[in-house]
Amino acid sequence: MAEQSRDELLKKLMAEVDPKNIPAHIAIIMDGNGRWAKKKGQPRVFGHHEGARRVKNIVRFCNDIGVKHLSLYAFSIENWLRPSLEVSTLMRLFSTYIIKERDGLDAENVRFEFCGRRESMPPKVMEELDRIVASLKHNTGLVLTVCINYGGRAEIVDAVKSIISKGYKPEDITEELISQNLYCADILPDVDLMIRTSGEMRTSNFHIWRGAYSELYFTPALWPEFDSVEMVKAILAYQNRERRFGMTSEQVQE
Ligand code: IPE
Ligand code: IPE
Ligand code: MG
Repeated sequence: MAEQSRDELLKKLMAEVDPKNIPAHIAIIMDGNGRWAKKKGQPRVFGHHEGARRVKNIVRFCNDIGVKHLSLYAFSIENWLRPSLEVSTLMRLFSTYIIKERDGLDAENVRFEFCGRRESMPPKVMEELDRIVASLKHNTGLVLTVCINYGGRAEIVDAVKSIISKGYKPEDITEELISQNLYCADILPDVDLMIRTSGEMRTSNFHIWRGAYSELYFTPALWPEFDSVEMVKAILAYQNRERRFGMTSEQVQE
C-alpha cells in the first residue's frame, strides 16, 4: 500500500481508539524475521537487522499514545539452539542497536530495562545493556523492556530459587511472593495485550506468569512488516474484548 494511504488508514483507525482504554502493558513476540528475509532472497540475519530497525517506530508510537510498558521478546532461552552464526549475530545486534538508539530513547523520555536470565549472557553484551539501563533510569515515559535470554519457565524456576534462598517456608508461598521474585519484579506489571506476528498461534514460553490473563492477538504480518497501522489494529481488537478475569459479563459491566 502506498505511503500516503497507509497514513490515511492510520488516521482513520486512530479515530476509533478509546484513549481511556489503552493497554498499560503490551508484550510483543516479534516473530517472522527469517521468513521475511527468505521472501526477499536474503539470509536470515538480514531479517533480524530489518526487524531491529522496526522497533524504534513502534516504541515511539506506543509512547505517544500512552502505553506504559512495552516488552519485546527478542531472544528466547530456546533460541540458543539456533546456528551459532545466527546467535552471535543476534547478540551483537542487541548491544549495537541499543547503543545506537540510546540518545533517541532518552530524548523521548523512554526508560529501558533488560528482562531475562543474566547468567549465560555474553558478559560484554550484558555490560552494555546494564550501562544503557542505568543511563535511562531517570526517564518517566514508556518503559521499554527487552526480553533476551528469556524463558517464562526459567523465570519461574529462578523465582522459586530466589524464594528458597531467602529462607521462606511452604506456608509463606503466595502468588504475590512469586510475582515479587520474578525478573524486573518492581517494574513490570501483568501483561494486558500480548501480540504475536508471523501467523504462529503460540506464546513460545513468553511471560508465562504475567501473561496468565493477557488478551492474545495474532497477526499474519511478519515482524519487519509490523507498523503503526498493525499496532492500532491490535489495540482496537483489545478494546473490543471483555476482560472478565473469571467473573460473569454482568459483574464486569456493573
Ligand atoms: C523472530 O524471527 C526473531 C527471533 C526469534 C530472534 P525468527 O528468526 O524466528 O523468524 P522466523 O520465525 O524463522 O521467520
Ligand atoms: C519466539 O520465536 C521467540 C522470539 C520471538 C524471540 P521463535 O521463532 O523462537 O518461536 P518458535 O520456535 O516458532 O515457537
Ligand atoms: Mg520464529
